[in-house]
Amino acid sequence: MFVSVVLLVLMLCAHGGRGEDDVKKQSRGHVSVVIVGGTGDLARKYLWQGFFQLYLNHVSMGNTFSFYAGGQSPPDKATPIFFDIVKAVSCTKDVPEQRCAVLKEQFLRLAQYRQLKTPEDYQDLSKHIERQAQEEGLTEAGRLFYLSVPAFAYADVANKIHTGCRPAAGGAWLRVVLEKPFGHDLRSAQVLAAQLGNSLQEEEMYRIDHYLGKQVVSKILPFRVENRKFLDPIWNKQHIERIEIVMKETLDVKGRIPFYDQYGVIRDVIQNHLTEVLTLLMMKLPANLSDSEEILQNKLHVFSSLLPLGKNQAVMGQYQAYQAEVQQELNKTKDHVSLTPTFAAVLAHTEAAQYEGVPVLLLAGKMLDQRVGYARVLFKNDVFCVQDQHNLHCKPKQIIFYFGHGNLQYPAVLVTKNLFKPSVMEGKWKEVTEQADILVVGLPASHYYILTPKVQQEAYAELISHIFTGHKNTFISTENLLASWGFWTPLLQSLAGSFPRIYPGGADNGDLLDVCLKGKEIGFTSEAVIISPDHIGGASAASFQTMQGKFRNGTMVSAWAEELVECLAADIQEAAEAAVLQGGVFHLALSGGATPIALFQRLALHHFSFPWRNTHIWMVDERCVPLSDSESNFFNLQRHLLQHVHVPYLNIHPMLVQVGQRLCVEDDHAVQMYQEEITNHVNASSFHFVLLGVGHDGHTASLFPGGDATDSQEGLVVLSESPVKPHRRMSLTLGAINRAQKVAVLVLGKSKHELITQLSRSKDRPDKWPVTGVRPSEGSLVWYIDYDALLG
Ligand code: BG6
Repeated sequence: MFVSVVLLVLMLCAHGGRGEDDVKKQSRGHVSVVIVGGTGDLARKYLWQGFFQLYLNHVSMGNTFSFYAGGQSPPDKATPIFFDIVKAVSCTKDVPEQRCAVLKEQFLRLAQYRQLKTPEDYQDLSKHIERQAQEEGLTEAGRLFYLSVPAFAYADVANKIHTGCRPAAGGAWLRVVLEKPFGHDLRSAQVLAAQLGNSLQEEEMYRIDHYLGKQVVSKILPFRVENRKFLDPIWNKQHIERIEIVMKETLDVKGRIPFYDQYGVIRDVIQNHLTEVLTLLMMKLPANLSDSEEILQNKLHVFSSLLPLGKNQAVMGQYQAYQAEVQQELNKTKDHVSLTPTFAAVLAHTEAAQYEGVPVLLLAGKMLDQRVGYARVLFKNDVFCVQDQHNLHCKPKQIIFYFGHGNLQYPAVLVTKNLFKPSVMEGKWKEVTEQADILVVGLPASHYYILTPKVQQEAYAELISHIFTGHKNTFISTENLLASWGFWTPLLQSLAGSFPRIYPGGADNGDLLDVCLKGKEIGFTSEAVIISPDHIGGASAASFQTMQGKFRNGTMVSAWAEELVECLAADIQEAAEAAVLQGGVFHLALSGGATPIALFQRLALHHFSFPWRNTHIWMVDERCVPLSDSESNFFNLQRHLLQHVHVPYLNIHPMLVQVGQRLCVEDDHAVQMYQEEITNHVNASSFHFVLLGVGHDGHTASLFPGGDATDSQEGLVVLSESPVKPHRRMSLTLGAINRAQKVAVLVLGKSKHELITQLSRSKDRPDKWPVTGVRPSEGSLVWYIDYDALLG
């Protein structure tokens, strides 16, 4: 049965903007609220509570309501679910318990579930609303549809509302609320806007950006107006050092990947939430704060004066576990690589004379060290205090619009005391004195004047009340939306295909995501990491279109050089992780020469995922030159790998080819010393992983054809002679190599094709082809041969 509770009408709207008086008049009477997707997640978490709040605010003030949850499921299935959700709504603290129970009861009686699937369902709902209003003798004020459904369904639902469920009563309004995403880029936003435009008038659409409902965000303009006398002289390029708009989150995006992976952090929060904040900070103040049209025009002006963003004005990151989450939630195989950024920092500038040259940093990310959001306007401070560095005059001058969370935990506007004492706004805000020595954006709280709302209000509840009062300032108009996409789309296009920097997540990110502003460009402060697909995927051989087969006595992996090296690096990491898990340590012996350099560079990219702290690095061979000589194998290893990763110094074992001024002199016993070092550290002198190359003459390590060294199966280390300079070498023996648990031979390049062909046919002849003596007694041997070497 249709039940409505008639309440005295008194509209909340206190804003006298253009057209809003009309809206106020129209709002008296009966209002039908329909949440399409009314049993979904958003409805469950925020919307029903927001509408209950709206209802509470109007108790004993006016208006009659009915609430409908619309969904695809039939009523017998969905109704119990719906009532479980609605029962969970709660009153604010100031409502006594008994009163709250009565209000909840009334609210529940006003609410019902309806299947809203077909055009007929919408028509039936419309008839139902009209019939019941007639029966109750009510005048229809309007219908509010909240579309809590995926964006692809918007056009269809809007059309069904338009054709089947518009209020017939003259003067009754229709408001349709939409949640982001509003498109993916400029083009798709235009298409969606055009489709919606076929069914809805601009004034009927309420696009939600919940940041505009945050109390601090909605106070940016009033704050600027109320403190005009202080701000007018300093709110400009002469005084503002820079503006930062920051949204750090600690959560990951598990459970939201199907959405998130298509959008990423720029589309998810920067294009909308942070950009809206930017416009509020930088727009010309309107003459009338309630004039939606003037505010819109001023916002559009900000967009048109923003300078286009180039690729070098953004950096991106992705938290390490993201790949696995994507593979799992999207049912992808291990070789699926997503480049979606979960962190981004963007540096914007405007050509508006007032702010020309002022850097505007927009930064947001998931899995960061702290949850906090704020906009900071940092002013220039040219005071230098010689003696008392703690004097407030020497400190940064800044205004912080603190959205919430973080150290302060509550929303606030903070002004450093070396700027001015702000006026307390609107009577709904109060000044607080925070004595505790907590840091707020770099300064102790006691350095600020702090203003906070007297009563904290959830953004959705705030926005729902704005929808009800037809207060359009806090919603995104079509022009605003397209202007924003127009600004962001070229950057998104230029970043497509770029690799984000991988970060571990949480406090472990350390300085990895720190950025620095270099003129008009932005970069990470630490340059060490370049991200590649292997790093992102942590992938194994199967991931890179590699081919597996047999070569001589071992397994063969083949691919194009780059993929092959990625694959080998991933395999080394896998071996390292297994060894560390088992014994806490990983012993890796690396060859010299040119071929492994690509691998060293690749391994350097594994700079935080690889267990470097538990890894010992050994040399397979060395040239008898000083270690600082560019011919030295160690020199190249240091240059291309060791300087980029955190291997403890004591775990690095160069071959001691130089003793005093002498190079590889037998009397110096360097061979014995290295041998002892191996015996002392490496269990059974069995390295976990030995990386070899092979020369055109079939030599491997520094074991050359015809040399005595190839005979030596007993010792672990020998001095040897190379036919090419520098002739003197030190090398692991075949005996040492063959004790290893895993041996990899890396062969790259067309010039090795002939050799590979020969090797594929020749028998084991270590004297002629030393590499054929590589036959690990218990371990495995894998040949990594690129297509050029394999196929010529
Ligand atoms: C949403 C984004 O719009 O805003 C989420 O889709 C993000 O990814 C959320 O977590 C943050 O909102 P708030 O209010 O928690 O700062």
